[in-house]
Amino acid sequence: MERSAERTPVVELRDIKKYFGAVRALRGVDLALNRHEVLGLMGDNAAGKSTLMKVLSGAYIPSEGGIFIEGQEVHFASPMDARRMGIEMVYQDYALANNLDVAGNVFMGREVVRFKLGPFGVMDYPHMEKETKNLINRLKIDIPSVRQKVERLSGGQRQAVAIARATAFDAKVIIMDEPTAALSVAAIDKVLDLINQLREHGSSVIIISHRLEDIFRVADRMIVLRQGRKVCDTPVSGDIQDFRERVVAYMIGARNDFAEASPVL
Ligand SMILES: Nc1ncnc2c1ncn2[C@@H]1O[C@H](COP(=O)(O)OP(=O)(O)O)[C@@H](O)[C@H]1O
Ligand SMILES: [Mg+2]
Repeated sequence: MERSAERTPVVELRDIKKYFGAVRALRGVDLALNRHEVLGLMGDNAAGKSTLMKVLSGAYIPSEGGIFIEGQEVHFASPMDARRMGIEMVYQDYALANNLDVAGNVFMGREVVRFKLGPFGVMDYPHMEKETKNLINRLKIDIPSVRQKVERLSGGQRQAVAIARATAFDAKVIIMDEPTAALSVAAIDKVLDLINQLREHGSSVIIISHRLEDIFRVADRMIVLRQGRKVCDTPVSGDIQDFRERVVAYMIGARNDFAEASPVL
């Protein structure tokens, strides 16, 4: 019983289609994400990567297709619904509140109330600060103080806060859309380390990136989308140059033999 639960993918997307008027952004995509797995998602601009992840995180409702969490079908009407099922998305622009400190951002939208004063709740700042400190330490994030306003943090630190926020409440699945796009090499290293920490702590991660070397470093498996279809689903292994050649061939459409070469999970 337990064994079969271990084998059930934490997330399964089945034949997802998403249309925006005449634009067919997703034309029937299957995706399975396993426990403790880091899945890379690549593809050219407009391939449908962000749209697919917005479907999984409840930001878009699919035109057709099913979402299954631990084997149960779910219907997300909003990102709150997805969050309740343990699915969190870190957006490209981080979506942080600059005028709040680190703890305030981690707890944004789910502040802990110490007691009620008439219609108002009095925030339990000491609790939120303590929890944020624990989280930052656990994930080995390098931030001087949880009271620091996020507008004063570097790009890498802001990305780390956005990731910490997504992980604060036992997320099963953390989705990151281009988490390394705007970062220095040193900051990229830290974000990739952070992804490894998340996997060690039992989360599954989906990372969208156009940097193949990032995916190669952290991902167990990679999916390539092209023009709204999945054209490759492959373990990440071997030599990076060979891997790159293979992946690029699928990305640009030079190879289209996915169905025969590697059966769907
Ligand atoms: N909200 C939207 N309204 C209309 N078209 C959209 C919307 N979101 C995405 N698209 C279109 O869907 C396609 C896939 O976009 P997207 O998922 O953002 O691609 P990617 O993230 O792979 O670059 C593109 O043609 C894009 O213009
Ligand atoms: Mg995108």
